[in-house]
Amino acid sequence: MCGIVGYTGPKEARAILIDGLKKLEYRGYDSAGVALQHDGLLEIHKAAGSVADLEKTLVDNSNAVNVGIGHTRWATHGRPTDENAHPHCSCCKEIALVHNGIIENHQTLRKWLAEEADHKFSSETDTEVLVHLIEEYYEGDLLESVRKAVARIEGSFALVVVSSREPGRLVCARQDSPLIIGLGDGENLVASDIPALLAHTRKTKVLEDGDFASITSEGVEISDAEGKLLDKEIFEITWDIEAAEKGGYDHFMLKEIMEQPAAVKETLRQRIDTASGKVNLSELNFTTEELTSLEKIHIVACGTAYHAGILGKAVIEKIAKVSVEVDVASEFRYREPLLTENQLLIVISQSGETADTLAALRLARQKGLKVLAITNVVGSSVSREADEVFYTWAGPEIAVASTKAYLTQLIALYLFALYLAETRGRIDSAVYDELVSGLKALPGHIKTVLSEENLAKLHTYCDHLSRWDSAFFVGRNLDYPVAMEGALKLKEISYIHAEAYAAGELKHGPLALIVEGIPVIALITQKAVSDKTLSNIQEVNARGGAVFAITREGFDEIASQVESVFYLPPANDILAPVLSVVPTQLIAYYAALARGSSVDKPRNLAKSVTVE
Ligand code: F6R
Repeated sequence: MCGIVGYTGPKEARAILIDGLKKLEYRGYDSAGVALQHDGLLEIHKAAGSVADLEKTLVDNSNAVNVGIGHTRWATHGRPTDENAHPHCSCCKEIALVHNGIIENHQTLRKWLAEEADHKFSSETDTEVLVHLIEEYYEGDLLESVRKAVARIEGSFALVVVSSREPGRLVCARQDSPLIIGLGDGENLVASDIPALLAHTRKTKVLEDGDFASITSEGVEISDAEGKLLDKEIFEITWDIEAAEKGGYDHFMLKEIMEQPAAVKETLRQRIDTASGKVNLSELNFTTEELTSLEKIHIVACGTAYHAGILGKAVIEKIAKVSVEVDVASEFRYREPLLTENQLLIVISQSGETADTLAALRLARQKGLKVLAITNVVGSSVSREADEVFYTWAGPEIAVASTKAYLTQLIALYLFALYLAETRGRIDSAVYDELVSGLKALPGHIKTVLSEENLAKLHTYCDHLSRWDSAFFVGRNLDYPVAMEGALKLKEISYIHAEAYAAGELKHGPLALIVEGIPVIALITQKAVSDKTLSNIQEVNARGGAVFAITREGFDEIASQVESVFYLPPANDILAPVLSVVPTQLIAYYAALARGSSVDKPRNLAKSVTVE
């Protein structure tokens, strides 16, 4: 993620850029910056923090500025500091660039630029290599130098470049990250997303992968890598501003649910070696000795992240054969856990700021344990204090109810379990290969779960569910943590009281609450225990409960034994929870809609819980 905006025209560019960045802050909000072109030079302003912090640095309006680029950052490489904020500048300070994406071969390019061409770097970012490359190739035509630089890059990018030598011109390129041109009257704009354009125009041209653009106030030229001009259709926006910020969705939660295929793909990217098919976690600095001598792992987290931890325990124990304990962070230090140096603590936190999780991390470090953090926010407290960090690349999660962050936390745990299992020599190579190919297939399968037909089915089911004040989620084995997460999500945003039970536990008490029609959502994706779960479902049926089963293709005997059934695409038993949680998120969403509750900001809750 990251938000980009650019303007060229007769108006005062500062206000347009700041306003555009504020509209894009949902794409990243840890630092921001602008490059303003005027009087044959570039004026750069950057600030860690929000766009409002950046705005405070733009007090001097004495120069008329009509051209500029801006960026709001979601850190990937390098902490959220002033230096790492975009725009980045060439050595001669004549070229400035903003970028959204990841330059995968940045280390090789950086080395080459520094050693062979004497470029001086001033940030820790992957992006900075790009502006130095453009400078290296610059021979009087910015577009040509951008083409040459892009040809050397591996990775994803949306970029906008300005040069003090070419007044009034913006140059753009795109590969795997969005970029949209806004066509104005005597002015033109470019941005990562429509909200930044809407105050100025509804006429747009959408850049596609491999496209380049040269933009001035008079016109826009879009071309391919060889310089051939491309004729693009004009796309007229019909959304209003509020809908546009949510990408046309009614709520951030739904948008984030729909982003899950991309979030999972991004978290997997570069962590599975294409040539060898092996998990590559070279970003973690564990020695083989540390991993082979591990006696126990503790996983500590809160809420949804805790549910990811429970699933992580099952997966690590199954495939890496290391014993794992899981605690909610607010309980961990008070139970006086037995912590010794041959143990590892894994903390999981989307925000990286949860107070109880941080306290657990500090306790473990005090006791001499190494700490691995799984977090979504670069530069967060958890990422700074842990020994090792595994970033989930879900992008900013705005809705209070966590969805895409949870899925990427699961991916992180699967990858870590495979890496640990292989290092310890505890996994059969056929099982390993099956899991790796299963992981790679997940983004496509999640897309299938999110098909319009499936959304409609879940929406219809929620008409029944939303009339109840109480519901149950049940499952066995790996289905049980998914049931816990499904129940939490439903409680949190629809305010329906929901309980999760290991299906075999129903008869030990909760069965007393089963009455005619009560909604029971059963997760049945684990082959070894599906018959047993079905027996528990018969116990519910016999008391009039209405069972909605979430199962996967191939479990054909279930349909005739429940009121309704939802089929997931085929998946390996161990990976099935990544798919089965998605319909539970949508059930919570549609139930909340039906009950008119506030989906993105549920009552009494906050996104980042920094109190104990
Ligand atoms: C529920 C939810 C919370 C968080 C919990 C931990 O949808 O989002 O339960 O999972 O507050 O937050 P992080 O992961 O930021 O530590």
